[in-house]
Amino acid sequence: MIELFPEGFEELEAHDGLELVAYTDARGEERLWQVFGAGRVEEIDQGWEERWRHFHRPVRVGPFWIGPPWETAPDDVIAVVVDPGAAFGTGAHPTTRLAIELLATLQPGSLLDIGCGSGVVAIAAAKLGFAPVAGIDLEPQAIAATVRNAAANGVSVDARCADAREAELPPAQVTVANITLASVEALAERVFSERLVTSGYLASDEPALPGWERLERRELDGWAADLHRPAVSPSAPNRHTAT
Ligand SMILES: C[S@@+](CC[C@H](N)C(=O)[O-])C[C@H]1O[C@@H](n2cnc3c(N)ncnc32)[C@H](O)[C@@H]1O
Repeated sequence: MIELFPEGFEELEAHDGLELVAYTDARGEERLWQVFGAGRVEEIDQGWEERWRHFHRPVRVGPFWIGPPWETAPDDVIAVVVDPGAAFGTGAHPTTRLAIELLATLQPGSLLDIGCGSGVVAIAAAKLGFAPVAGIDLEPQAIAATVRNAAANGVSVDARCADAREAELPPAQVTVANITLASVEALAERVFSERLVTSGYLASDEPALPGWERLERRELDGWAADLHRPAVSPSAPNRHTAT
């Protein structure tokens, strides 16, 4: 479901297990059928794209308050105001929270946010003093949201629409990738950074990242995020960068 609907889906407790619900259109329904076979389809009222706003509540993550523009941040926090629109990233998802927590432990430098979604991680990084900050996402809606949210927060994020599995990845001192397990694994050999923060997978998952050595893992609600540095091996490619 994460692969099919990275922008989000719903988990509902059912009497005999867990029900996963995607709010989508005919193309999304087709993808569901291809992957899972038969499923249940219900027509829903117009305006469902906007209804998530009722559930977009502020969260506290490390030094940050992350919330929507219609809420007011307290005075004693670093505020990250995010209106994700149709992009992923209110700040509340455990993978986002964990990635930001790990980021907050690092020395600020240049940063690349792969799968920037709403821009929430990139903006939090910029507020911690990371610069320059770049973001990449597959979805044009995500790039639009990142640009809009960066401007609203008064920070600079160079956001680019591209498939990170194919596009050239700019070197950065820190790279963050909150995407999926398969994409994280596919990207690892093409990232050139002093530190790599990965997330987007379950606590039961162990990403196989050749050339990287894990320094720390954090877990929340069954999700995980990891901090890595380049493996110290004479045969490993040099993943350090001076930018
Ligand atoms: C789980 S969301 C993370 C959003 C935000 N960074 C956060 O932490 O809340 C993953 C994002 O990665 C993007 N994405 C997935 N695969 C990608 C790829 N191959 N290249 C670029 N972006 C990708 C999705 O469009 C989505 O916006």
